[in-house]
Amino acid sequence: MLGNFIYSNPTKLYFGDEVQKNLREELKKYGPKVLLTYGGGSIKTNGIYEEVMSVLNSIGKEVIELPGVMPNPTTDKLNEGAKLARKHNVDLILAVGGGSTIDYAKAVSVSAWYDGDPWKKFYLNQEEPDSNQRIIPVGSVLTMVGTGSEMNGGSVITNHAAKLKIGKVFGENVMPKFSILNPRYTFSVPKNQMVAGIFDIMSHIMEQYFSGNDDNTSDYLAEGLMRSLIHSSLVAIDNPQDYEARSNIMWTSTWALNTLIGKGKSQDWMVHMIGQAIGAHTDATHGMTLSGVSIAYYRHVLPYGLKKFTRFATVVWDIPAVGKTDRQLAVEGVDALLKWMKEIGVVTDISSLGVTKDMLESITDATLIMNGGFKVLEREEIMSILPLIPQHYN
Ligand code: NZQ
Ligand code: ZN
Repeated sequence: MLGNFIYSNPTKLYFGDEVQKNLREELKKYGPKVLLTYGGGSIKTNGIYEEVMSVLNSIGKEVIELPGVMPNPTTDKLNEGAKLARKHNVDLILAVGGGSTIDYAKAVSVSAWYDGDPWKKFYLNQEEPDSNQRIIPVGSVLTMVGTGSEMNGGSVITNHAAKLKIGKVFGENVMPKFSILNPRYTFSVPKNQMVAGIFDIMSHIMEQYFSGNDDNTSDYLAEGLMRSLIHSSLVAIDNPQDYEARSNIMWTSTWALNTLIGKGKSQDWMVHMIGQAIGAHTDATHGMTLSGVSIAYYRHVLPYGLKKFTRFATVVWDIPAVGKTDRQLAVEGVDALLKWMKEIGVVTDISSLGVTKDMLESITDATLIMNGGFKVLEREEIMSILPLIPQHYN
């Protein structure tokens, strides 16, 4: 049964290739000073920087550049950006990039006018900005898909000294005011990043799907998104320039984590908690930290959520149920997931991400245990499933 919920999402999306026109309209709504934040330079080689700058210049914006946002943005980088935004008293933060850059822009948005330690307040203590605190509006131009950051309040920051990677879900006042989604902008994403993003999308859907056995519209939406993603991912692997596939993946990504498919139902998120702990220890690509643990995790919790896993097998993977026990069918569903993961080329172990045996205790300690999934894990269970060797399909 659908539980009570409120659904509201204030982010305005512009989807398609009329980037300059749409961006110009949005930018006009804000004051003259724009903090332009981006990553390590991909936007300069693929032409996106020039396109965005030409719009900013054409309407006379004063641009303060904040480049160098790394994948898995750090507390040090956050402090640098917050200082810069405050010093220039910017009117808007325009994030041009993937999840890291957009997450970072949200973090800077709430931190610039906060006098204390933002890591401690927003991330460690999970507090909201004070009601009288100034929050700088954020807009985004998305260049890499996977996180859904373009239409949610999520912001994940890594503290290397503390070996912690923590996500904060901010409210509507911090979510992007607008996001520009041009599938062509994703054509230049390297293949390993593209597939990591694809797996991240799948994982967001599964985290919301593998919880609860009630009849719930949200789960049917999730199944449709998974089917679309699986299909488009295989097309995009063959031809990364396939606009149809890349645009479907982009749209699926946004809907996978703009809170819609989790509405009115319980959710799991344990794979992300383990993945974040691995990320804090290795700085590995987010989607790969999820793929590295997913099969081991789902094989472990499968007996506790058999009904949903059989549904996953039949509805998402079209596996015939006739003549099979629930257990056999459920196992075949997870095997089909693994087969697809191998086809798209994501990792299925964590040693290839740089995890060594001596890190396992510390990774387990850094893992936040969630209680919405089919099985609330004990500490020892996390230790036992961390897969140092690739997961096999047979
Ligand atoms: O830095 P540049 O040079 O731009 O290169 C980036 C980066 O190296 C490159 N890239 C992006 N667009 C490109 C491109 N290269 C060529 N052409 C383009 N068009 O891709 C690399 C990865 O970018 P990044 O932004 O790090 O990837 P992603 O979008 O996967 O973001 C990952 C971050 O988001 C967090 C993750 O934990 C991680 O820190 N997440 C955010 C969530 C949210 N906001 O709700 C939820 C997710 O579960 C996730 O935790
Ligand atoms: Zn994710």
